[in-house]
Amino acid sequence: MKKRVVVYYSFEGNTKRAAEQLAEKLGADIVELRTVKEIPRKGIRKFFVGGGQALFKKCPPLWNMESDMGKYEEIILGTPIWAGKCAPAINSFLKAYPVEEKVAAVFTSSGGGDNKSCMKDFSRRFSALKYSAALCDSRNPASKDNEMYIQRLAEDIMHGE
Ligand SMILES: Cc1cc2nc3c(=O)[nH]c(=O)nc-3n(C[C@H](O)[C@H](O)[C@H](O)COP(=O)(O)O)c2cc1C
Repeated sequence: MKKRVVVYYSFEGNTKRAAEQLAEKLGADIVELRTVKEIPRKGIRKFFVGGGQALFKKCPPLWNMESDMGKYEEIILGTPIWAGKCAPAINSFLKAYPVEEKVAAVFTSSGGGDNKSCMKDFSRRFSALKYSAALCDSRNPASKDNEMYIQRLAEDIMHGE
């Protein structure tokens, strides 16, 4: 079995839940990205600050992660969708760790379930990208299908080896 890690950022817990489920199914390690400075928790400001950072592909500093990415053969990335893009912490991770060619699968969590703009960027960036899943925020009734998508993604990744 390939040595895998699920690397994710989550602001409000949806991506975290999915990352934990996926890592368990895959028997993969799991690494959470955390920014030193968080965007505002409440109100419209979180969308302005977070959305602006995402659109302009900012790389906010991350807390140190005790992790050697060199030991992994495949990386699975998880991110919320912010202003159509990946969360800025993902940009910071990819800047600090030159692992783009190891990213084999990605999953996103968004309010509405759309991740097309983000996936366009990812497909350009990750030459080995094979699988993806678009999940929904738990406040969206369509999130009832999240578990099925996570299961499917896990099976695709495992059968792809
Ligand atoms: C700053 C910000 C920007 C967002 N932009 C979008 C967006 O463009 N499209 C969308 O469907 N949801 C958007 N959302 C909603 C999140 O993608 C959604 O709530 C997601 O499930 C959150 O994942 P998390 O709980 O792991 O943080 C945004 C949320 C935040 C905080």
